[in-house]
Parts: sequence; C-alpha cells; structure tokens
Amino acid sequence: MQDRLTDLAVGNVLSNAVNIGNRLNLFKAIADISDEQNPALPERIAETAGCKERYVREWCNTLACGHILEVNEKEEFWIAKENLEVSYFSRVRPPIPNILTFQALTTDNFPLIFNTMLSTVLKPIDILIECFKKEGPYGLDYSVYSDFEEMQQKFAKATSEKHVIPSLVPAIGHGIPERLVSGIRVLDVGCGGGLHVRLLADHFPNSVFVGLDITEKAIEQAKLHKKSDGSDFKNLEFVVGDAGNMPKDWMDSFDLVLLFGSCHDQMRPDLVFLILIVNQCNFNKFQCLLEVHRVVKPDGIVAVTDVDGSSNVHTDRETYGKMAAMKYGGSMLHCLPVGSNSPDALCCGSMWGRKRAVALMNKCGFDDVEIIPTDYFPGSVLYLMKK
Ligand SMILES: C[S@@+](CC[C@H](N)C(=O)[O-])C[C@H]1O[C@@H](n2cnc3c(N)ncnc32)[C@H](O)[C@@H]1O
Repeated sequence: MQDRLTDLAVGNVLSNAVNIGNRLNLFKAIADISDEQNPALPERIAETAGCKERYVREWCNTLACGHILEVNEKEEFWIAKENLEVSYFSRVRPPIPNILTFQALTTDNFPLIFNTMLSTVLKPIDILIECFKKEGPYGLDYSVYSDFEEMQQKFAKATSEKHVIPSLVPAIGHGIPERLVSGIRVLDVGCGGGLHVRLLADHFPNSVFVGLDITEKAIEQAKLHKKSDGSDFKNLEFVVGDAGNMPKDWMDSFDLVLLFGSCHDQMRPDLVFLILIVNQCNFNKFQCLLEVHRVVKPDGIVAVTDVDGSSNVHTDRETYGKMAAMKYGGSMLHCLPVGSNSPDALCCGSMWGRKRAVALMNKCGFDDVEIIPTDYFPGSVLYLMKK
C-alpha cells in the first residue's frame, strides 16, 4: 500500500502539472518550437508561451521526471512524437474502455481535459468534506466551483464539437435530421454555455432553438457567442430557469428536447429515486423529467446524453478498468454534491447508470426508452424517448 499511496501522490502532482501546462498552452508551445532533433530550453518555451522562465523550467523538470515530457543531458525538452497526435485507434472510434488510447498532449481530448478540470472540481474540497459528515451540508451549489461554467464549456468543446452534427443528429433518427432541416422547435435543458444548441442552431437555420439553464452565469456566457459566420443568431434564445419548473406556456411545444449531461446533476430529475433510495415520495411535485414530458409535443422526441454506466460498481470496474475510478471520482467531486443540495434531493450522481436512469424515465411517463451507444462521446450513452 505504501507504494500505491506514493504512486497516487505522484499522479496527483503530475495531474496538476498537466493542468497548468494545458491552461497556459505550454504543451502547444513546446510542440511548436521543438522535436527530438531540435529540443528546446525552458527559456524558449517560456518565451513562446509568454511565461516566466523559472516557473516553466520547474514545470518542465516535473513533467520530464514524470515521463510526460522528454529531456536530454543538456536539460533541453521536447514532446515524444507519439504523444503529439491522437493515435490511430482513437481516430477510428475505439470502444469506450479504450479511450485511454488518446495520446495527445496538444489536441483536446478527454483525459487531458479531465486533468484540467480536476482543479475546478477540487476547489470546494473543504466544504465537500463537511458534506460527508452526518450533520454537514446536504450538498454544494454550482457557484462554489468558481470557474465551472468556463471549464464545462472547454469540456463540451473537447468532447462534443466535432460529433454533434455528423454523429449525434443521425443517431437520434426518428425523422429528426430531416425535420431539423425543414424547421422544428428544439429545447436544450441544462444547456450550460450552450455549445450543443449553438452548433445545432448554426447548422439548421430553419429550426428554432431554446437553451435553458438554472445558473445566470452559464446563460450569460452562452449569450456571448455568434454564428460561425460572425453574425448574430436569429433562431436561438437562452433562458435562465429551473428545469423542474418550466414556463407554463411551453406545454406540448417542442418537437425535440435535448439534455446533455444535465439529467443526473439535477436534485430532482424525478421522484422515483426517492422511492428507491429513501422510501419517501411526493407525487404532487413537477420535476425535471416530468416537466420535459409536459413540454415535448405528442409526437416529439427526448434525447438524453448522459454518463454511461451499468448501475453496478463491480460491473463498471470490469467494463471501464482504470477509467471507472475517474468516472466515479468525477461524480463524487462534482455531480453528486450538486445533485444532493436539498433535503429531498435524489442524489443520483453521474454514475447512476442505465438501469436507474431507465427506471426513472419510465416512471416519468416515457415507456419505451431506446439506449443508443455513442462511442464518439467518450464514456457516454444516448437515451431516446417518445412521449
Ligand atoms: C454538467 S453541466 C452540462 C452543461 C451542458 N449541457 C454541456 O454539456 O456543456 C449540467 C448543467 O445543468 C444545469 N442544471 C442543473 N440543474 C438544473 C435545473 N434544475 N434546471 C436547469 N438547469 C440545471 C447546470 O447549471 C449545468 O449548466
């Protein structure tokens, strides 16, 4: 165990160093100016990235000792060629357990962005520790993760940008790709910084899109963006609001309702979990999925992209290998505390898994839930429902 604990501490330090390098574009700076034949001194790397040489030198030293950067006897650095590009296997869409085949230090990818997000989800660690205690707070508000919205946008960009139009839209099927072209009404619930709904609004000008999120900060950021041609969106609106209590006049008004990673984060995505977990319920309350059922048209489609899991940790450990700890850890540090922040919260956590998710969707009136693998969104799955 001593060796294992030492490995964990070393991994933690290296993870934070990767975070620093990614945020300051230090990997890109090294890649731009050096290779094995032309290694670079920290001074040049620092100059290229607009940073101080002394700090960059210690950063290079740390990552070279961790075998993430290469170093020679003259204390010059470079990135090994195989770590510069996303490997062949990841480009041909690996099965989910193989997502660690992403090698790149300079291309946005899931493991790299996860290292970068760690410092964000660790910000409220002292309060999180209090949440564990019986008399401690129920959970945490999004605001205590001070740069969560920015990081979530980076995460969405790294994981989704290339895949929403060519892969996700066809996967939704049910005539939706054609109907998006001719013109329908679409709602993105828990849209965050709005990347997904923005990509769709840009690509399908005849359709009308609404992005809804509970935090003002997320909606402020979502509104900052323009279309890819630089003009303002005419078919996209962002609204601050609670998915558990959407405007009354949205009844039966959307042809397509989307949730990207925002279902499990809600404190009350339905009431079923309450029955399963603490054996209490209050069927009078309208909550998120019940609300989604209300606002989708009778022939409409609900598409929920969420973290994939089996609802059994033993199975997940077999399926995902070392990624399983990352998935459950992300839930413990962020998704669970934000989804637990009230006395009647369902405390789903992002690893609620297919079995619990489908049970919940069924109880909210969605009888037939299709489960579609989405290996282009690492570690996620698509649930499709008709009203
Ligand atoms: C994990 S983030 C996903 C954001 C975005 N869909 C994306 O993929 O980048 C979850 C989002 O759900 C939002 N959210 C959580 N509870 C909500 C609620 N009750 N109503 C509306 N939005 C909510 C959060 O503010 C956050 O932006």
